[in-house]
This record gives sequence, structure tokens and C-alpha cells, in this order.
Amino acid sequence: MAKILAIATGSFLFLLSVILFSLTLTAAKSDSFSRNLSPKTLGLKREKLSHLQFYFHDIRSGTNPTAISVAQAASTKRSISSFGLVTMMDDPLTVKPEISSKLVGRAQGIYASASQSELSFLMALNFVFTEGKYNGSTLSILGRNSVFSGIREMPVVGGSGLFRFARGYAQAKTHDLDFKTGDAVVEYNVYVFHY
Ligand SMILES: *[C@@H]1O[C@H](CO)[C@@H](O)[C@H](O)[C@H]1NC(C)=O
Repeated sequence: MAKILAIATGSFLFLLSVILFSLTLTAAKSDSFSRNLSPKTLGLKREKLSHLQFYFHDIRSGTNPTAISVAQAASTKRSISSFGLVTMMDDPLTVKPEISSKLVGRAQGIYASASQSELSFLMALNFVFTEGKYNGSTLSILGRNSVFSGIREMPVVGGSGLFRFARGYAQAKTHDLDFKTGDAVVEYNVYVFHY
């Protein structure tokens, strides 16, 4: 009986060491392309919250439109929501609603009509800032914009430069809309955590 017990314990210990050994090997393998890093190594100190406010100018009219439709389906024209329409934008961002006010950056990206029942866009864009300390930094937005709702909220999914590790949300509120041309001025309030 004691002998059987000794054999069983021996086998168990052997099995345990095999498992531990293979676990060590796996860890060593993943270590070859990743490592733990102290945030200080990247100069990251304290996460802060910033609020940015600016006006977005979506200009479809005139000789130098900042938003141009680049694709649509055969059925898009019959759709009440322009379902399938894809627009590329390089929209100026200013500090005041007037286009002549100070330029702080641009909204570069795509919006596409993604609903069959209401005018609602899939927004995929980068805010590129060109003013002050944020000059050269970007924020990336990916979200849903149902343009006739009062306030639309879209996630900030990341950023670059001073906005590395950014997370937060952007709120869009139409300031002015010209139904004839489609030109729009939209107020943006962006709340973002970053370092
Ligand atoms: C922003 O950065 C660019 C490139 O470094 C530079 O040419 C430009 O003068 C800067 N603008 C401002 C307002 O600082």
C-alpha cells in the first residue's frame, strides 16, 4: 500500500514538474517580443482630463468644397437617408462659429450614411490640430452621428502626440445648417483623458 502511494506521489510530482517546465518555456517565448514597462520609461506622469471646444465647417458648396461625396450605390438616390453615400472630408476647425475665426485644426476622414431609416452617419475621422501646444497632435474618432439629433456623442478611440493613450468622447451639436447647399457648422465639445 505504502509502495503504491509512493509511486503515485512520485508520478504526480513528475507530472507537476513537466507542467511547470512547459509553462516556463511558454513565458520565455512570449517574453521574446513583449516586456513589462514602467510608465515612467515613456515619460508618462499623471493622466489629465482636457476639454476642447471648436467649430467644424462642412462645406459642400462652392469651388473648394471641404466635403465631397466619393461613392454611392444605385439605390442611394431612392433612399430617404441617402443610405450608402460615402463622403470624404477635410473640414476646417475654428475657435468661433465664423469661418474667418482662428483655425485650430482640421477634421480629416470619412462619413458614410449607414442607416436605412434616418440620416445617420458612420464617422471615421482624425482631428488634426495645428495650433499651440497641440500642433501636430491628433485625436481619432469612430462613432455614430445621427445628424438631426440634438447632441450626438462619438467615442474618442485614441490619439497621437500629446494625445497618446487618449480616450474620451466628442459631442457634436449643429450650430448652423443650410438645407439648400448642405453646408453645416457643427459645435464640437471633446472631453479626453490623456497624459
Ligand atoms: C505647427 O507645426 C508645423 C510643423 O512643425 C509648423 O510648420 C507650423 O508653423 C506650426 N504652427 C504653429 C501655429 O505653431
